[in-house]
Amino acid sequence: MSSIIEKDKKHVWHPFTQHFTAENPMEIVRAEGVRLYDLAGNEYIDANSSWWVNIHGHGNTHIGKAMMKQFNQIDHIVFAGVTHPKAVELAERITKILPPELEKVFFSDNGSTSVEIALKMIIQYWHNKGQNKKRFLAMNGSYHGDTFGAMSVGQRGYFNAPFEPFFFDVDYIDFPNGENEDLILLHAQSLFETGEFAGMILEPLVQGAAGMRMYSAAFLDKLASLAKENDVLIIYDEVMTGFGRTGKMFATDYCEVKPDFITLSKGLTAGVMALGLTVTSNKIYNAFLGKEMTKALLHGHSFTANPIACAVACANLDLFEQPRAIQGMKNLDLWNKEFRKELEEIEIVTNIRQQGTIIAFEIKTGEGNTYFSDIKAQAYAYFLNQGILIRPLGNVIFVNAPLIISKEDYDKITQSILAFLSEGCRIKKHN
Ligand SMILES: Cc1ncc(COP(=O)(O)O)c(C=O)c1O
Repeated sequence: MSSIIEKDKKHVWHPFTQHFTAENPMEIVRAEGVRLYDLAGNEYIDANSSWWVNIHGHGNTHIGKAMMKQFNQIDHIVFAGVTHPKAVELAERITKILPPELEKVFFSDNGSTSVEIALKMIIQYWHNKGQNKKRFLAMNGSYHGDTFGAMSVGQRGYFNAPFEPFFFDVDYIDFPNGENEDLILLHAQSLFETGEFAGMILEPLVQGAAGMRMYSAAFLDKLASLAKENDVLIIYDEVMTGFGRTGKMFATDYCEVKPDFITLSKGLTAGVMALGLTVTSNKIYNAFLGKEMTKALLHGHSFTANPIACAVACANLDLFEQPRAIQGMKNLDLWNKEFRKELEEIEIVTNIRQQGTIIAFEIKTGEGNTYFSDIKAQAYAYFLNQGILIRPLGNVIFVNAPLIISKEDYDKITQSILAFLSEGCRIKKHN
């Protein structure tokens, strides 16, 4: 055991980890392009873009330069009563590429806080307007983060059961599966008609943590129209779907009806710095204006609009203005479509879905889609052994590789998945 692992075991508490049974963590000492390197010199293709964030791979030099330049100018500064050029540049650039009504940007430092802030803005919006609207609508299977508000609007279950008594009440609609859409819309309509709903939050087009489950923009538009007709504010949580993942810059770009809030993180800084954005309209912003301080949004974080994080996000936007990123999105979309055809031939594969750069499928285990499937551990170990880092979501295997991945490396991933399906995968019998 290396001294780093020894010290890690002594002092570090890892996320989503049962330390009693967990194996030693991998010791990654270097990352470059789409590859990660461990202490022993083994290399791994980063097939899930390091928790879905490293959109341009690792060690991008343009981002690195922007970071250092900003460090030499202003590393950090309080953001109450102060502004700085990179925060303003980022706010201006991001609002230019989001729906035109979304003009105001609030900064935080991760996906959960970007959601938390959108929820707080909705609650206070109605409070400031003197209206008693307190209920929220969310979708079964959703994941919006691990802070209390974000957990409250997420899927309830084994991940958050101990905290449930502290959550606020939320109503859930079913996940649209192509057959139940009219029923879901009727359900939403009957809830909205109570006049009690403050807001609705959704992961547009793709539910990430639920296993990259996908649904149509046409359905989303119908649901969003109902919300608008009933004066229910809409949050599209684009923490995972933003920045090219779905084949367009944002999932919202597929939709006719635009939300009142978009939350962003992950790909926002191409996985280099921690940053979250809550972007909303002047309609919302104006409800916080007045002579009384108590009408303002009294919320902030030490690292709000950290200049280095903002500079990195601007450098990320530069990269999206270059042909390479756009080509990467097109490549992955095309390669995923080809891979899909191969998967369709495999008996033990079901529920294949693909949207832009993301492809996911389930391995038939007889248990449905479950996070605790032992396929997860088998697949994780198998792929690592083949030099690929994939973290399955239970029996759901998915690939959302960096946009810069070459066809050769993409093929290594898919060949390894096919080999796992044909020779590596052991499915326990369930009665
Ligand atoms: C859709 C969505 N929202 C919010 C979050 C939470 O983001 P973070 O992990 O940065 O707090 C995630 C994380 O996976 C996510 O997928």
